[in-house]
Amino acid sequence: MNQSPPPINPFFAARRQRAVTVSPRVIFAKLPQAPINASPVPHLTSLYHNSRAGEYGDRSYPGNCGGNLIKDLLTYFRPGLVFDPMAGSGTCRDVCEELGIPCLSWDIHDGFDACDPHAFSTSEAFDFIWAHPAYWRQKLYADDPRDLSRSRTLADFLRRYGQFIRNAAKALKPNGKLAILMGDYCDREEGFVPLTFHTKRLAFEAGLTQPCTDIIRFSHGASSSRKIYRSSFIPGLHDTCMVFEKRRKKAANAD
Ligand SMILES: C[S@@+](CC[C@H](N)C(=O)[O-])C[C@H]1O[C@@H](n2cnc3c(N)ncnc32)[C@H](O)[C@@H]1O
Repeated sequence: MNQSPPPINPFFAARRQRAVTVSPRVIFAKLPQAPINASPVPHLTSLYHNSRAGEYGDRSYPGNCGGNLIKDLLTYFRPGLVFDPMAGSGTCRDVCEELGIPCLSWDIHDGFDACDPHAFSTSEAFDFIWAHPAYWRQKLYADDPRDLSRSRTLADFLRRYGQFIRNAAKALKPNGKLAILMGDYCDREEGFVPLTFHTKRLAFEAGLTQPCTDIIRFSHGASSSRKIYRSSFIPGLHDTCMVFEKRRKKAANAD
């Protein structure tokens, strides 16, 4: 018996119509509503979807990150002295300048090796360290064997990255924050490399704790988004900003 198709609900018909008129490369997702709270930056939630990079750093620098996330974190945590030890084009420095926050900003291109155990000559100096390291060898930076992206093996990368995190932990003031922006990636030899997992593992081993949620940053404008691949895979469209804290030492019990 022939069954006639169910009548089309005009609401869904209109939505289907709208869907085909939108560029196929642009998809709008409905985000969960954030609870109202006393945060000075209410739009800073675990999902960071600001597609505007802001006028900070140099967008043409390989691996450049937008400055707006840094600005929101600094506005939220209100630190004194800030340090960016893998500064690239100086995005964090530019944000600090706008906010009037003092900031030191160095890079391997200036001869500063953040992974050298003696690199941070000072301890307990900074209120906030922003770090956006190389995602191992996903992108190559300096023509210098000390560049993290030039680490020959994953073990070598993790050994030096762990030293960097210990350096940063030492250089933080009590209650200071270390914010690391890191992404997982698929390596040609190692396959999927969960660098966000390793970041947390190394930070906890360095004695740091996590005072707030991970921030999943949508990767708007990533160069890989514009490529066409023959292989099949689940594209990663985010990186993760993890904030760690150096807990103030508990006062020894007088008894
Ligand atoms: C992802 S990029 C940072 C980009 C920066 N956030 C920006 O917006 O321009 C990583 C940076 O780490 C630097 N780098 C790599 N190994 C380093 C090391 N051992 N010490 C200091 N900087 C290093 C690279 O030169 C590169 O500039």
